[in-house]
Amino acid sequence: MVSYKELGFVNTKEMFKDAMKNGYAVPAYNFNNMEQLQAIITACVRSRSPVILQVSKGARDYANSTLLRWMGKGAIEMMKEMTDKPIPIALHLDHGDSFELCKSCIDNGFSSVMIDGSHLTYEENVALTKKVVEYAHKYDVTVEGELGVLAGIEEHVSSEKSHYTNPNDVEDFVKKTGVDSLAISIGTSHGAYKFKVKPGESVPPLRFDILEEIEKRIPGFPIVLHGASSVLQEYIEMINKYGGKMDNAVGIPEEQLRKAAKSSVCKINIDSDGRLVMTAIIRKIFAEKPQEFDPRKYLGPAREELIKMYINKNERVLGSANRV
Ligand code: G3H
Ligand code: 13P
Ligand code: ZN
Repeated sequence: MVSYKELGFVNTKEMFKDAMKNGYAVPAYNFNNMEQLQAIITACVRSRSPVILQVSKGARDYANSTLLRWMGKGAIEMMKEMTDKPIPIALHLDHGDSFELCKSCIDNGFSSVMIDGSHLTYEENVALTKKVVEYAHKYDVTVEGELGVLAGIEEHVSSEKSHYTNPNDVEDFVKKTGVDSLAISIGTSHGAYKFKVKPGESVPPLRFDILEEIEKRIPGFPIVLHGASSVLQEYIEMINKYGGKMDNAVGIPEEQLRKAAKSSVCKINIDSDGRLVMTAIIRKIFAEKPQEFDPRKYLGPAREELIKMYINKNERVLGSANRV
């Protein structure tokens, strides 16, 4: 058993308390490799933001779970070298799909886990989430549950259609499971193709009416938004310009996320925007310098651009900058 406290992580309790009190959202950025991790830490130290480092099941398989834990520990040490005033960092399992996976993460240094039972029946979701909470809380690990289904297809998360969260369920779910935060479905979705819109058309707004109804049922309870990348068009254009093909890629407008961050939404998940930045910069360098073959010469600039993008999110979208 490796406790997250020994590694230097914190759980999400205090982070969410402060986010709720002050009307901002803590960024939850996914990482799969060293450059993404360096960029997230550097951006959050520079902008003085708390941060949740997210690892999906796919990331764990890709990077090796033991190495990932030490990368997490390395991130803490790097952060301490960068500043005399440490920023709070949580290590979180994104979209855990079984008790065993959540347990393995808890036993290996994660400070927070998500158990995603949203594809199960309501009763099965309650039972599975409760089981994870009972284990996690023994070790002071926080748990995120999910009600409602997000559309979007990724390696380990897929659903063709979304089902909005039913506000009538949330109070019962939170009470029965004991979760620390709740992911809801109000119109966001995973990936880079969030809406089918024709050029010039604007995307449908998030269902803030449902969010408000949920807030009334569980006032002051931390809400999580998945699928919250904005799919920044400057990077889509760069990808398409340099040989990619990502037509009609579209995300959640930043002003909608800003509005959500001021509500009970305390955690906003962003993965796709980071993927797009890396892809765009690497494509550009490959196109402009076809002779280049040193990975540092294209991964380095991609990392620099990621830092800029994350700082911008913290400062202008989530409002998490200068909070710690
Ligand atoms: O919500 C899912 C995250 O974007 C992780 O995606 O399973 O492809 O690593 P992944
Ligand atoms: P995006 O695909 O919109 O970045 O969502 C990421 C996410 O929800 C990770 O859990
Ligand atoms: Zn997600």
